[in-house]
Amino acid sequence: MDKLLLIFFIPVVISDSLLDNWDGPGPRLTYPGPIKFLNQGMLRGRIEHYDLTESIVSYKGIPYAQPPVRELRWKPPVPASGWKGIKDASLFGANCPQFGAPLIGTRQPFVMNEDCLFINIFTPNRMFMRNLPVYFHIHLGGFHGESGDPNIHSWEFFPQNGVIYVTFNYRLDVLGQLNTQDRHATGNYGLKDILEALKWVNRNIHSFGGDPNNVILMGFSVGGVVVQALIYSEDAKGLFAKAVSLSGSLFQTYPFQPNPKEKAEALGRMLNIEFNNTEELVAQLRTFTPEQLSNATIRFLPTEMPTLFVPRTFVPSIDAEDTDEIKLIPKHPDVLARTANYNKVPLMIGFNSMDSMTNLLFPNGRDRFNADPHMLIPDAWKIERNSSEAWEIIDGFRRVYFNGSEIVTEDMMMQWMEFCSDRENAFGMSKFVDFHYKEQPVYYYRFSYSGAFSFSQQYFGLMHVNGTTSFDDYMYLHRMNRFRNPVPRSDHAYTVQDRYLRLMLNFGRFNNPTPNSQDRLLQNIQWPQVTDNLEFLDIGENLVVGTHPFKERMDLWRDFDRRFNKF
Ligand SMILES: *[C@@H]1O[C@H](CO)[C@@H](O)[C@H](O)[C@H]1NC(C)=O
Ligand SMILES: *[C@@H]1O[C@H](CO)[C@@H](O)[C@H](O)[C@H]1NC(C)=O
Ligand SMILES: *[C@@H]1O[C@H](CO)[C@@H](O)[C@H](O)[C@H]1NC(C)=O
Ligand SMILES: *[C@@H]1O[C@H](CO)[C@@H](O)[C@H](O)[C@H]1NC(C)=O
Ligand SMILES: *[C@@H]1O[C@H](CO)[C@@H](O)[C@H](O)[C@H]1NC(C)=O
Repeated sequence: MDKLLLIFFIPVVISDSLLDNWDGPGPRLTYPGPIKFLNQGMLRGRIEHYDLTESIVSYKGIPYAQPPVRELRWKPPVPASGWKGIKDASLFGANCPQFGAPLIGTRQPFVMNEDCLFINIFTPNRMFMRNLPVYFHIHLGGFHGESGDPNIHSWEFFPQNGVIYVTFNYRLDVLGQLNTQDRHATGNYGLKDILEALKWVNRNIHSFGGDPNNVILMGFSVGGVVVQALIYSEDAKGLFAKAVSLSGSLFQTYPFQPNPKEKAEALGRMLNIEFNNTEELVAQLRTFTPEQLSNATIRFLPTEMPTLFVPRTFVPSIDAEDTDEIKLIPKHPDVLARTANYNKVPLMIGFNSMDSMTNLLFPNGRDRFNADPHMLIPDAWKIERNSSEAWEIIDGFRRVYFNGSEIVTEDMMMQWMEFCSDRENAFGMSKFVDFHYKEQPVYYYRFSYSGAFSFSQQYFGLMHVNGTTSFDDYMYLHRMNRFRNPVPRSDHAYTVQDRYLRLMLNFGRFNNPTPNSQDRLLQNIQWPQVTDNLEFLDIGENLVVGTHPFKERMDLWRDFDRRFNKF
């Protein structure tokens, strides 16, 4: 298995029979589009036809911040300067430096450059557009990779349905996250870029027909993590009206680094830098190229499964204190959840019924657990090995997931997948819901449909497993670019796709995914907001309202987290 798979937990290996005759994502036909007047200068867009009837207009590669290079490396983003004449906005800007071309479907040639802070706007192709909802999409990629370019999927469904879709790049890996816990490197540069992009949208989106008062944050995986961080951010106040966080939580283990200074110093040692203090360390690190840094940081990636059980190295962390720079994560996420004066906007929050299904491909994860059950326990709880608390937790997990068995046997792989999914994903989402449902409208869902567009499941040969794996819900919200065999129009996958998209568009337009109880596509359901009963919508073959998703499992986590979490 390709090592990079471990980075994203989603497919990255190119060349597979599913994908052969693929001609790249993108429109069938394009021609020059209208000119927009921004404060930065004039911009010519491009009209794009994805099918015979519908067309959209794209404006790509617009700089939203100055290139974060040389003295601006490891500095907060500075708003971009303007340009003279008419800028051609028909091409995407460079991807931010990462460990080589990351995903299947990355456009060719793959361009990577430290000068990468670009934003892309996709609008309907109509004459008079005003105050359209604006979906601000934060890309996935583990804070290590990816970009705002279309890859396995593209997003024209949104503008085709009369709303604006925004994508952009933000700094990744060590360039985006170096944190020496002092003013020499304050951390969270990637998050600061995202905030800057959001400010750019608030200033400029009306020129594209968008409503700056109806910006919807939307992110999957680490995009969902960022959405939650922005909800807690004072500096993001008033910049968005609602939020959609999918299978990504600030309360998960992997996207939060508790000891960033130690990691910065370890990187210095790996690069044979001599330094007496962080000032010297950061000054020396500035002399390395992005490629040299990437080649070094790739060696920090966890190699033991399940990789999401441990914090990644260069991911968000608590901001350095002694600076005037904007702070995106000023305190530990658990403390923020209890104390932040957060943005009480309507929320849509969801997970896949078996987000960690691909762990099935790495049976050694189960062997590790059998050899050392302590690995079940999240580090954040700081439980001493072999203590009575440790055994109480381990026994609790064994009881609820493994029918009391001391070892996870071959025939318990499904239960092992359930445990991994909850540990890595579902519990983080559930915890965020618990914190917020009393303060703001929350629409909670579980995506459990598996079918013709379930890319990862097909790619990894896991269609026999009951559940939906990470990323595959996203494939029902966007256009799949990469299947060899076209899916016949009669397939139920299209109905699921139409439903999911309508729920998402309704939420953007009306603050409510089911504003009309007489919608046959949505099976006339009313999706209730979360109350003490933890109402949720199961998006599967059908739309089904339930209460308390995975109750016994989540109750166990909730109880342990309440008692053992030290924050
Ligand atoms: C570290 O400190 C020593 C002693 O003051 C000095 O000789 C050396 O040049 C310093 N190292 C760097 C990289 O500045
Ligand atoms: C980085 O690693 C790649 C692949 O191992 C190698 O081809 C390249 O030369 C390395 N670049 C640098 C600057 O070390
Ligand atoms: C765990 O604790 C028990 C009882 O306190 C003790 O007998 C045992 O030796 C300990 N095992 C290890 C591996 O430390
Ligand atoms: C669970 O364990 C009990 C007793 O240990 C056993 O009787 C029962 O068959 C087990 N159930 C399953 C589903 O394996
Ligand atoms: C499949 O999983 C769902 C939970 O997502 C569960 O409700 C259902 O009973 C399972 N079906 C089978 C056949 O195990």
